[in-house]
Amino acid sequence: MRDRVLHKLKTTQDYISGQELCDSLGVSRTAIWKAIHALEEAGYEIEAVRNRGYRLISSPDVLFSDEIKSILDTKWFGREVVFCDTIDSTNNEVKRRAEAGGLEGLLVIGEEQLAGRGRRGRNWVSPPGTGIWMSFLLRPDLLPEEASMLTIVAALACQRGISQFTSEAVGIKWPNDLVMHQKKLAGILTEMSTELTSIHYVVIGIGINVATESFPEELKEQATSLLQETGQNIKRSSLVAAIGKEFELLYEGFLEHRNLEYLREEYEQKLVNKNQYVAIHEAKGTQTGTAQGISPKGELLVIDSQGKEIRVGAGEVSVRGIYGYQ
Ligand code: BTN
Repeated sequence: MRDRVLHKLKTTQDYISGQELCDSLGVSRTAIWKAIHALEEAGYEIEAVRNRGYRLISSPDVLFSDEIKSILDTKWFGREVVFCDTIDSTNNEVKRRAEAGGLEGLLVIGEEQLAGRGRRGRNWVSPPGTGIWMSFLLRPDLLPEEASMLTIVAALACQRGISQFTSEAVGIKWPNDLVMHQKKLAGILTEMSTELTSIHYVVIGIGINVATESFPEELKEQATSLLQETGQNIKRSSLVAAIGKEFELLYEGFLEHRNLEYLREEYEQKLVNKNQYVAIHEAKGTQTGTAQGISPKGELLVIDSQGKEIRVGAGEVSVRGIYGYQ
């Protein structure tokens, strides 16, 4: 009910009377009053004027599905938005819903993740009220080996989205970490369900530290938040909407080209590894060289000391450079 009343308030320019809310939502005055009260408790500022009704004055920094839906300006991204106060991992929730037939564009946002996951089996610290922990579902008609390029697409969408809210430079550490002032601001975890030659679905999970004030000791040196680096309080819902819009645009371009040539120049401009000395750690050993940019398939192009080109695929490798984290 809270969502439906909020939707009405958001879509009404002027005051909306209690009676109108009752009639259009088919519920009692008490139900409306309770919903208004719940919204106020959540931080919405609602003006109530006798004989005129209710009017929404301001919205708090919440990620409720109706809040997100009311500001999304997309065609299919977030066609269904699911908000969970607490969830194991939004990637897990999208997978469960994908298995049950969820549609492309489904977006799941968690206020808090109890088992947030990072790349290479790490955990991702996801406390409530401080970040964006979201995942969305794609059902692309691609070969499984083409899917890793989607991570690069998502990284650039985040780069563009975050840049709309700050004048500080937002960089990308290949393949998909977002960095500011040489610290990690956000990460992306792409997972998929495939057959030999086809993809059932892809889940793209994005974690952004927005308002984190301090990190655990072991992360302090490498992790940061938008608040720490810019001093700004950025509304999380607006950031979700901006990234969704950018992802939709870039994804449509990707499906058309099926390679990354169309975004290569822009991605490389933001690539903090470019022209940097990097070490590539793989199961079979470590190689070093200078990163040049990315290939049309999204591999990192590195020239070793003999002048030989190494193409690094995203998979399970870790690339370390001047940045103190991997
Ligand atoms: C990384 O840099 O290691 C990737 C981090 C990805 C974290 C996000 S938060 C939302 C989604 N749900 C998860 O469990 N992980 C991703």
